Amino acid sequence: MATPPPVLKHLLLVGPPGSGKGTLGPHLSDLLSVPHISSGQLLRASVDTGDPHHINEQVSRGHLVPDRVVAQVVAEYLANGFILDGYPRNVRQADELDRVLAADGRQIQLVLELVMPDDVASARLSRRARMESRSDDNPDTVAARLVTYRREAVPLLAHYADRVRRVSASGDLDEVFQRAERALSSLPKGARAQQAAPSADG
Ligand code: AP5
Repeated sequence: MATPPPVLKHLLLVGPPGSGKGTLGPHLSDLLSVPHISSGQLLRASVDTGDPHHINEQVSRGHLVPDRVVAQVVAEYLANGFILDGYPRNVRQADELDRVLAADGRQIQLVLELVMPDDVASARLSRRARMESRSDDNPDTVAARLVTYRREAVPLLAHYADRVRRVSASGDLDEVFQRAERALSSLPKGARAQQAAPSADG
């Protein structure tokens, strides 16, 4: 197993629906001793507890919920490092996250991009739909989620370009875990440069 740099505690998981963010997140959380935070899980939990933000319909249809709602829901989990899964999802959310982190001298260190063709992602989600009951796993909604991802991911990944590591998310779990661990074994150039700066990560 590759040894990750000990300072790695502000990490993003970016990938299409079904690419395994929610599966890899807990594994990396154990490896790095940093909490895995899934915006989708937090939003579904919010819907299940009375839907105070009135987002049930958007989540069920696979539409993005308003940026201010996600920012509010995620905010309280950002204090002590994180593996963030599903947030930020667009450049506006990335700007907001960067702003919050910069307020105490922090920044995103590494973005793990899980790369997966749409047909493989769809197949995984239709398998999950047969086993679990997630309201957004029907074929039309999965297709809409994939379209949204392809539209938003390009500028989002460009925003963090110097800190992105691409990992193929195809293949069995062990293969994907090993690829991800290798990707974490050194910080990207952009993150090293920021770490060397006086106000960088503490
Ligand atoms: P979210 O919960 O983030 O869903 P998603 O991005 O569509 O991703 P999934 O959870 O479906 O897939 P995953 O990549 O986590 O894969 P998983 O590990 O589960 O968002 C849901 C909704 O919330 C959004 O549509 C939106 O409405 C809202 N939302 C969330 N964040 C938002 C934001 N920032 N802004 C606005 N709105 C937001 O794996 C999938 C399946 O594959 C599982 O069954 C798993 O067991 C299986 N699997 C995983 N890896 C493998 C493997 N290697 N081999 C075989 N099977 C595998």
